[in-house]
Amino acid sequence: MEDVSATQLLLLSALLFLLPCSAYDACDELDHDDLLSLPFKAPLNWSASTDCCLWDGIICDPLYHIRVIRLWLPKRGLSGVVSSAVTNLTRLTHLNLSHNSLLGSLPDDLLSSLPSLQVIDLSFNRLIGRFPPSSNASNHLQIINLSSNFFNGAIPSSVLVPSISIYKVSNNSFSSFSGHIGDGIVKLTNLNILELHSNQFSRKIPSHIGNLSMLEKLLLHTNNFTGPLPSSLPNCKILSSLNLRVNNLTGELSAFKFSTLQRLATLDLGNNNFIGELPQSLYSCKSLTAIRYGSNQLTGEMSPGVVEFSVFTHCPSFPSLPTT
Ligand SMILES: *[C@@H]1O[C@H](CO)[C@@H](O)[C@H](O)[C@H]1NC(C)=O
Ligand SMILES: *[C@@H]1O[C@H](CO)[C@@H](O)[C@H](O)[C@H]1NC(C)=O
Ligand SMILES: *[C@@H]1O[C@H](CO)[C@@H](O)[C@H](O)[C@H]1NC(C)=O
Ligand SMILES: *[C@@H]1O[C@H](CO)[C@@H](O)[C@H](O)[C@H]1NC(C)=O
Ligand SMILES: *[C@@H]1O[C@H](CO)[C@@H](O)[C@H](O)[C@H]1NC(C)=O
Ligand SMILES: *[C@@H]1O[C@H](CO)[C@@H](O)[C@H](O)[C@H]1NC(C)=O
Ligand SMILES: *[C@@H]1O[C@H](CO)[C@@H](O)[C@H](O)[C@H]1NC(C)=O
Ligand SMILES: *[C@@H]1O[C@H](CO)[C@@H](O)[C@H](O)[C@H]1NC(C)=O
Ligand SMILES: *[C@@H]1O[C@H](CO)[C@@H](O)[C@H](O)[C@H]1NC(C)=O
Repeated sequence: MEDVSATQLLLLSALLFLLPCSAYDACDELDHDDLLSLPFKAPLNWSASTDCCLWDGIICDPLYHIRVIRLWLPKRGLSGVVSSAVTNLTRLTHLNLSHNSLLGSLPDDLLSSLPSLQVIDLSFNRLIGRFPPSSNASNHLQIINLSSNFFNGAIPSSVLVPSISIYKVSNNSFSSFSGHIGDGIVKLTNLNILELHSNQFSRKIPSHIGNLSMLEKLLLHTNNFTGPLPSSLPNCKILSSLNLRVNNLTGELSAFKFSTLQRLATLDLGNNNFIGELPQSLYSCKSLTAIRYGSNQLTGEMSPGVVEFSVFTHCPSFPSLPTT
């Protein structure tokens, strides 16, 4: 009789001991408190008494379901700043706060604090200031999208890690890459898409851009790039979209070898200071469906035979324009 109750007591105390543990099996306490300290003003169901892994926009790691790995709150009407509390979510792999009204600058150590980060999308906000410097950004980083904000200054080369495949910073006021011109960007040997358009980049297009052999889309339009087209560019053999429109590019275009760009589908050279003949090598770009080269000092034009290809005029977003 006494033996039984002793066993029961033991079981009971074991249960009592285990219960709080299983209750906390859900959300890491520090992540929970850290999220609550984020100064986002928005109607989110982040109630302190519930498991943070069940909150709007939060995903915890699938194995232990404890640490927050995703903070995914695009188009949620968020205002306020991206405070340094984010840097305590050290297991974060995906951060998407795009299409909100976030203000202010980013914490300096944002990228160096998140060693597992793969995707960062803060596009379409009202963020200002510098691109956060980082001597050691995550080497898992694949996608950076900071487009359509009010960032300015130089982009630190140290942020450029070779794992990056998509790099979008268009529609800001960035002016350059720090360090030796563009050294950083040509380290990105897995780069697939580079969108720098609608900024204030000046100086030359990096001469080693041809090292980016995976590049498919290069959008540099509406900046103040100067100098000639780098002679290494034809090494970007899988390039399909090249937009250089509205810059201050110069040089004899006929010297440029377009013939290696067999996948090039759209090419915009308009509003620059290119001179010379329109290069014959353009005719060997078998995939070309739209071209624009007006407002330069080019002589000659695409032969009528080429322009007559119906595809030239049937590309609504990218029409073939007259040469004048
Ligand atoms: C918060 O809302 C989402 C749906 O938007 C729901 O799936 C989740 O269970 C809610 N979480 C809590 C703690 O109420
Ligand atoms: C972030 O969320 C928006 C809105 O749902 C989506 O369009 C965008 O593709 C997401 N970003 C990334 C990098 O997946
Ligand atoms: C990050 O976490 C540490 C330790 O838990 C805490 O002392 C610190 O205040 C947190 N930082 C921010 C910015 O929340
Ligand atoms: C970067 O360095 C700091 C300080 O040495 C360290 O705390 C952090 O974890 C590092 N980050 C990455 C992404 O390796
Ligand atoms: C940011 O860029 C990524 C990569 O191209 C893309 O998937 C995402 O949709 C973009 N974000 C928005 C809000 O468009
Ligand atoms: C440029 O960015 C600003 C700020 O986010 C935005 O209001 C504007 O619509 C963007 N322009 C384009 C063409 O995307
Ligand atoms: C570009 O590649 C060439 C070899 O193809 C190499 O010599 C050069 O150092 C590379 N440039 C950069 C800046 O990585
Ligand atoms: C472009 O750069 C040149 C040379 O640095 C400078 O003189 C000019 O003012 C710049 N133009 C614009 C529109 O920023
Ligand atoms: C183009 O560059 C030249 C030489 O650097 C400069 O004088 C001129 O102002 C620039 N033009 C524009 C439109 O920025």
